[in-house]
Amino acid sequence: MNNRLKIAIQKSGRLSEQSKKLLRDCGIRFSNGKQALIASSGNFPLDLLYLRDDDIPRYVEDGTADIGILGENVLIESALPLRTVRKLGFARCRLSLAIPKSENYNDPAFFEGRKIATSYPKILTNFLNDKGINANIHRISGSVEIAPNIGLADAVCDIVSSGSTLFSNGLKEVERILESEAILIARDRLPAEKEVILESLLFRLESVLQAQANKYVVLNAPNDKLESISNILPGMRSPTVVPLAEKGWSALHSVLPENLFWNLIDELRQAGAEGILVMPIEKMIR
Ligand code: PRP
Ligand code: ZN
Repeated sequence: MNNRLKIAIQKSGRLSEQSKKLLRDCGIRFSNGKQALIASSGNFPLDLLYLRDDDIPRYVEDGTADIGILGENVLIESALPLRTVRKLGFARCRLSLAIPKSENYNDPAFFEGRKIATSYPKILTNFLNDKGINANIHRISGSVEIAPNIGLADAVCDIVSSGSTLFSNGLKEVERILESEAILIARDRLPAEKEVILESLLFRLESVLQAQANKYVVLNAPNDKLESISNILPGMRSPTVVPLAEKGWSALHSVLPENLFWNLIDELRQAGAEGILVMPIEKMIR
């Protein structure tokens, strides 16, 4: 019974497609949960439970699932003592306070005595307590952003990602309460057999996430420039250098963090690199 790990992921919503893609990139095959609430992988000891994201912390806590992928915002709101195993780098968003565009706003005192609609009453309460503000928190579980338009609230506290939901409801973001992204969570103590499966899943996750964060770079350079170029592009251990057919020239292969890409490309060109190719990496094991 303990020889499979159960992972809860969002059935539909902002995280669901990327959660499934991440597991598939890890080489795990499963059916996609359009109808069924549970799917079993045939090539990895993992069962998937498709759930509402807000329910995931409770199900991981009570053992219905062992691990889960959800927004950090949902975990914090749950206030359950679960372990964050790995930040996953997608579904970045923030929890913000927003008010109708036409209102003037200076500072959080705006919210004194106002009615705020939210699905995040605990986080919002903490924020308001910190600022010493008394407001009337109205808890609703979906479509929070329409509350001001139908006269249900003066403001909302909700997730903002692209900002288009706020925009199309005539609202403006005035305070950012917290930043969030997708995370992998687990119950504090899993049976040893399940920890072993989690470890092997984490090994695969790491290689996929590392690969996404890096690029494979190939460039040509005159041999006398190779050393200074290698210093800019240290790679995993050191760059690979292979001679070109043209005498005095070499090709250098290396790996570059995605977030440094544009800065380093300028440096490389100044150092004498040319014919620079940058390619995605599928898996990366350090
Ligand atoms: C949030 C929020 C908005 C939307 C904002 O829902 O409630 O509906 O995302 O995104 P945008 O700024 O790109 O328009 P979320 O998917 O977090 O969750 P829910 O459906 O579980 O409430
Ligand atoms: Zn939700």
